[in-house]
Amino acid sequence: MKREVNKERISRLINCGMVILISCAYKDKRNITTCAWYMPVSRVPSGVGIALAKKHFSSELISKKQDFIINIPPWSLLDKVIACGSLTGWEVDKFKITALTGEKAHSLVSTPKISECIGHIECVVIDVKEIGDHFIFLGEAIYAEAEDNYFRDNFWDTSCVDLIFHLGGKYFFKSSPYIEFK
Ligand SMILES: Cc1cc2nc3c(=O)[nH]c(=O)nc-3n(C[C@H](O)[C@H](O)[C@H](O)COP(=O)(O)O)c2cc1C
Repeated sequence: MKREVNKERISRLINCGMVILISCAYKDKRNITTCAWYMPVSRVPSGVGIALAKKHFSSELISKKQDFIINIPPWSLLDKVIACGSLTGWEVDKFKITALTGEKAHSLVSTPKISECIGHIECVVIDVKEIGDHFIFLGEAIYAEAEDNYFRDNFWDTSCVDLIFHLGGKYFFKSSPYIEFK
């Protein structure tokens, strides 16, 4: 038997993907927020879209600064990922509270990447769409890097690293070793 799913929870039927941390900064403010709603949108030029609630402090900073960094956290950062997705930068400095390290990025001048993460995509905002209570920030990736022990031949080697996936609410799962299809 199939039961009707509440419209507000439809995203949970399709959004069981990897969790990322968005870092952003404007003037003397900086912030980190946890994000599960994002997607690649173009290969050339390389484009990504992230959906952030309009009320979030990150939305405020990204709207003003017009750039952001996607940071990929390993499973060992799960508690910090939850903290960055529960606390708001309107009230606290999440770099301080989580002890995550803001490090100078490769191409963006003042927006920090998060040292403890294993991959980074530096993005410049090229468009913003307003959809309901969220903004979709469309970014062009101007630089990306990843730990070469874990990102080999242009794939995450999930036999070596556990990535964080989110089912919704308080439920998470880890990536499992990949299977090569022959
Ligand atoms: C696992 C997880 C995934 C999340 N994904 C999103 C998301 O994709 N978009 C969003 O707007 N908020 C998302 N959130 C909620 C924000 O991260 C959270 O409300 C945060 O406190 C906003 O912080 P800010 O006000 O400092 O930007 C997520 C939270 C968690 C725990």
